[in-house]
Amino acid sequence: MWKGRFAQETAKLVQQFGESISYDWRLYRHDIAGSIAHARAQVQAGLLTADEFAQIESGLREIEADIDAGRFEFTIALEDIHMNIEAELTRRIGPAGAKLHTARSRNDQVATDTRLYCRAEIDVLDAAIADLQRALLDRAAKYAATVLPAYTHLQRGQPVTVGHHLLAYVEMLGRDRSRLADCRKRLNVSPLGSGALAGSTINLDRRAIAAELGFDSVTTNSMDAVADRDYIAELIFVIGLCGVHLSRLAEDLILWTSAEFGFVTLSDAHTTGSSLMPQKKNPDVCELTRGKAGRLLGNLVAILTAIKGLPLTYNRDLQEDKEPLFDSIDTLKLTLAVNAEMIAAMEMREDRCRTAASDPMLLATDLADWLVKQGIPFRHAHELVGKAVAESVRSGIPLDQLDLTKIDAAYTSDAAQVFSLDRALAARTNPGAPSIENVRQEIARWEKALANS
Ligand code: ARG
Repeated sequence: MWKGRFAQETAKLVQQFGESISYDWRLYRHDIAGSIAHARAQVQAGLLTADEFAQIESGLREIEADIDAGRFEFTIALEDIHMNIEAELTRRIGPAGAKLHTARSRNDQVATDTRLYCRAEIDVLDAAIADLQRALLDRAAKYAATVLPAYTHLQRGQPVTVGHHLLAYVEMLGRDRSRLADCRKRLNVSPLGSGALAGSTINLDRRAIAAELGFDSVTTNSMDAVADRDYIAELIFVIGLCGVHLSRLAEDLILWTSAEFGFVTLSDAHTTGSSLMPQKKNPDVCELTRGKAGRLLGNLVAILTAIKGLPLTYNRDLQEDKEPLFDSIDTLKLTLAVNAEMIAAMEMREDRCRTAASDPMLLATDLADWLVKQGIPFRHAHELVGKAVAESVRSGIPLDQLDLTKIDAAYTSDAAQVFSLDRALAARTNPGAPSIENVRQEIARWEKALANS
């Protein structure tokens, strides 16, 4: 493609080092769509005849069909997807093919292709996250009223329900989806026409090209347009954060499947055995989910580091944007799919959940609230309950069986009413709190939201 200037062939090792076709071939559909839009604008500008355009369009469609069918031969001598397709087009149709690259550079071309690719993949990821939300919601509905201890510092804190706990993840995933939507909106801008870095002396109708490709608008600075990879870093970040959410869910499930917690049973199909210890049933899917988060965050560091030292505008370092991007997308897709399946099939061990939540210590805060309602300042109430807890620990008598009236005159025999899990949950009616009614309302709200997505 640059033979005019060079007397020597590119060294084999340089070809091997510099090629991206082994992974950027997957941009082909977008590359072809971009080329067709670009060629159409060339017709408008009087640079191509209708006949030449028809040859280019059908030539590109045939190449697309060949790649679809796996019968296209890519070569690393042509570096990347852009040159592989263009060279083959010219080989097939002759002179018209050689006109295609007028007023275009691989710099605006690759920026266009990757934006289109990200846009399409965002839609796939969004649907995959929604599927996982639906699986979580289904379990949340089944176990809406199943009481469960909730933890801070991995110490039992207060009672909630399984529904409430699972809905926390539905919320996180909802934010991930809204971040994807933001990212999609920001990246849906056409860089085509920016050329290598300073546009072109040949003015094609950038807006018409953008409209054909479904972009909302055109970029407004040619240098920024070819140097910008914010959209890739942003998408890798959004994916990374979603991976972090899935990792936290995985960690909850790993704890819950242990004999120590015993709150959940994962299906045989979504767990693995040990080649040595016959009794084992391991939550490998959860562990891999936790492990993959590290890889997703590694991709984020890779892309940010690749960009950080680059002077304007395009530098070849930017070719390193694609593998982390592709890897993050592939990894998250598979992680979401396997988690959705596993969650849909998981069963809570409701007896174990209730037993764990029945520890009266979980209602110590409620006891302090009861004292507050009797007119005791909260700090003092906290201390009085602390005394009762200490006495329970010292004597071995459960908190709900102590004679509290002996601890302080502020306690009356009515205080015992606090030790009812059902009442404790029923009292938590403020928005966002886990009364069973609230949980059911939240489930209904999410079901409605997810029905339209
Ligand atoms: N394969 C290249 C990349 O991914 C395309 C752009 C090449 N531009 C150039 N000036 N060498 O970045």
